[in-house]
Parts: sequence; structure tokens; C-alpha cells
Amino acid sequence: MVDVLLGLQWGDEGKGKIVDFLSDKYALVARFQGGPNAGHSLNINGKGIVLNTIPSGIFRPACKNLIGNGVVIDPVKLMIEIEKVKQYGGSTDNLYVSHKAHLIMPSHISLDAASEKAKGEAKIGSTLRGITPTYIDKTGRAGLRVGDIYTPEFKQKYQEAYDKHLKQIEFLGGDAPDAAAVDSWFAAVEQLNKLNIVNGEYFINHLINDGKNVLAEGAQGSMLDIDFGTYPYVTSSNTLSAGACTGLGVSPLKIRKVFGVFKAYCTRVGSGPFPSELNDEIGEQIRIQGNEFGATTGRPRRTGWLDLVALRYAIMLNGVTDLMMTKADVLSGFDEVKVAHQYKTNNQLIDEMPFHINNNELEPQYIGYAGWGEEIHDSTSFETLPTNFKQYISEIENSIKLPVSLISTGPQREKTILR
Ligand code: GDP
Ligand code: IMO
Ligand code: MG
Repeated sequence: MVDVLLGLQWGDEGKGKIVDFLSDKYALVARFQGGPNAGHSLNINGKGIVLNTIPSGIFRPACKNLIGNGVVIDPVKLMIEIEKVKQYGGSTDNLYVSHKAHLIMPSHISLDAASEKAKGEAKIGSTLRGITPTYIDKTGRAGLRVGDIYTPEFKQKYQEAYDKHLKQIEFLGGDAPDAAAVDSWFAAVEQLNKLNIVNGEYFINHLINDGKNVLAEGAQGSMLDIDFGTYPYVTSSNTLSAGACTGLGVSPLKIRKVFGVFKAYCTRVGSGPFPSELNDEIGEQIRIQGNEFGATTGRPRRTGWLDLVALRYAIMLNGVTDLMMTKADVLSGFDEVKVAHQYKTNNQLIDEMPFHINNNELEPQYIGYAGWGEEIHDSTSFETLPTNFKQYISEIENSIKLPVSLISTGPQREKTILR
């Protein structure tokens, strides 16, 4: 069966840490969407490593790892990442790549930059990894896939796409990729072709039919979903649990559990609405205590209180069965901790996400809870956690009608409390 783990907010919920923690129970960890816009942090033998495209089960020797058809791959970045995993003592012998995954070309990256520049103030705040132009070519039926690499038409298809991109880049006033970037790309494509390239949908279904369990690892977060996120300030893939079916080739009937990961507060990186954002000293304190700087781009993350309206929405869309709270430790030391339980707009209180989500028009309605001074990094059981923190969790559970079954209190594997 397949369990899906995904982020319920705007990304960076700590998915990588939890996947690494859980992956020894699975035969396969599989990424189903996104690409190197993701930055999933793991802590291996006391050292931090960020994975962008490789699934977070890679440091478990008994676990296979699949980059599924729904993922977009930058061959250059993938080769660098493989070397990094080896430097950390890992092996990529167990890494498999679907031949239907699409390739990010250097000109996709230039196009991403050109299109962001042309948007000016209205820019999305993209990670500039070429994600959107690659998905545009995918849905426009002009993309290059891993399985195309060894076909005789590969160079010609590449050239056609490249020529089209150049015209678009020129139109937008951007810069074409330099020749060295193109050379490195073709060299990396040769390397990519030597990896374990598989027919991902058969690969995963054979494992499932053999009674093995799979963990599908989401990237980004539910509020960045192309259909249901804060459009147009979203990414270009379906980040929801439904995306695991199309991004891997598994039937919805094979999905068993949906693990929804959320931070004890909220963050967002890039532009776009964020109703419970704190542009004050408290927001700054959360950023510092939580070390909220992007794992992929190093940008400071925007911070705010937990938003239960958005969380309930994400839980509904994903069919979450188990909630997992991360970065609970970051909230120690605040006098008061708040959660937004409703929004006010046009003098009306609302419990549901509206079509127009605008920071200036939506006024979050907060409930404040007494904070807790105690550090919780070293707690090993739910019972020993501070009373006020347990109260905070129980208020959240009452509002969202689902228990929190895992609490993460630090970046390391062992800083995880199961209930
Ligand atoms: P992901 O994209 O969802 O995998 O999350 P990121 O790796 O981008 O961001 C999460 C950050 O929080 C990383 O720096 C993690 O090492 C760190 N982290 C994860 N869980 C915890 C936790 O429970 N407490 C603290 N303090 N840090 C955590
Ligand atoms: P993980 O998997 C947080 C954001 C970008 C930008 C928007 C579109 O680490 O949680 P894109 O490059 O996809 O076109 O950018 O989405 N974004 C993320 N924010 N975590 C991520 O991934 C993100 N991937 C993309 O900042 O606002
Ligand atoms: Mg991240």
C-alpha cells in the first residue's frame, strides 16, 4: 500500500526530516511532483544535508528511492546531489528514475528568470530552478523526458525546444543560457542515462503487488498547489495527495494513509498572500528561533501564527489521516501563542478559504494561549511536555477534529515524539 506524506502549509514544514525518520518502515520512498525547487533538510550523523530531487529515504540502505514521472529533473543539479549524498556516507545504488519524468533544460531556467523579471513587482518569487517553464512544456506536449535521452531524435527535440525558448527569452528581455551551462547539461544527461532508469508505474505497482509498502514524499505544500493554493502565487504542480496517483502511476485505491505535516506556526517564502503573517518583532523572533531561512535559496522566510482556516482546508483537500506537528520547540519562550481560527472580511466572519485571498482584506481572528517557557528539545514522551504546550495541541485538535500523532522537537531523527 501507499502512504502519502505532504506539507499542509506553504512548504518547508519539515517533510524531509519526517520522511527520513519514517523511511526505515518502507520498501520504497517516491517523489511524485516538483523538482529542485524543493529543499528537504535531513540530519545525518549530526550533520545537516539538503536534498532537492532525491527522495529523503536515501540514507536508509534497505529502502529504494524513486524519482517519479511527476517530477521535473535538472540533470546537472541531480548529479551534484548524488555526489553530495555519497560524501555524507550514503549510496545512490538504490536510486531509481522514471523514464517519464521531464527534463529541466538550461533554457527553462533562463526563461524562469526572464519571466520573473518581466513581472516586476508582481513576481511570484520563484526559486528560479526552471520549474514553471518545464511544466508548461509538459502540458504543452513539447517536453523532453528521461526516456528520450537514448533516442536518435533527442538532439533534434532539444534544439527545437531550445530555439523556441530563445525567442521567448528575447521577447521577455532576458538572457540566454551561456554555452558552458549547455555543455554541462549534456554531460549530466550522459550521466543521468547511466542511472537506474525504470518504467516507474510498473516498478511501483510490482512492489505494491508483492505486499511492500511505499511512502510517497510530497514537495512544496498544499497552499502552493496549482489548483487549490493561493493562485497565482503557487508552484506549477499538484502538491496534494491526489498528485501522488498521477505523479507515480498508482490507483487511489492503493492509498492507505495520508500524513499531513505542519509547523506549529506558519512560514512562506516568495510572494503571495499570507493572512496570519507577522511583520513585527514577534515575527522576527520566530524567524530567528526557527532559523527560518530557505533551504534552497537562503531567502528569509516570512513568518506568522498558525492559521487553522488554511490548515482545515488543506486537511479536507488531502484527506489527512494523521497529523504531524514540527518545530514545536521553536515556540518555547513566548508569553502568548496565537492561532487564527477564522477570518473577517467585509465585516463578516468566515471559516472557509475565500476565492480572493488578500492580506489587506482578510483580518485573521486570533485566539491567544498562555505560552510555555520550558525548552522541549529533550522531551521524549508526550506526558513530559509542558502543560501549556499540551493545552495548545489539544485546542488545535478540537478545532480540526483530528489527533496530532507525531510531534517533532528538533531537526534530528531522534527528536521525534510518537503518541
Ligand atoms: P521541508 O522542505 O518540508 O523538508 O522543510 P525544510 O527542510 O525546507 O525546512 C525545515 C527546517 O526545519 C530544516 O532546517 C530542518 O532541519 C528544520 N526542522 C525540521 N523539524 C524541526 C523541528 O522539529 N524543530 C526544529 N527546530 N527544526 C526542525
Ligand atoms: P519544499 O519542498 C517553500 C515557492 C517559491 C515561490 C513559489 C513558486 O522545500 O517545501 P517555483 O520555483 O516552484 O516556481 O516557485 O513556490 N516554493 C517553495 N516554498 N518550500 C518549497 O519546497 C518551495 N518550492 C517552491 O518560493 O513562492
Ligand atoms: Mg524546504
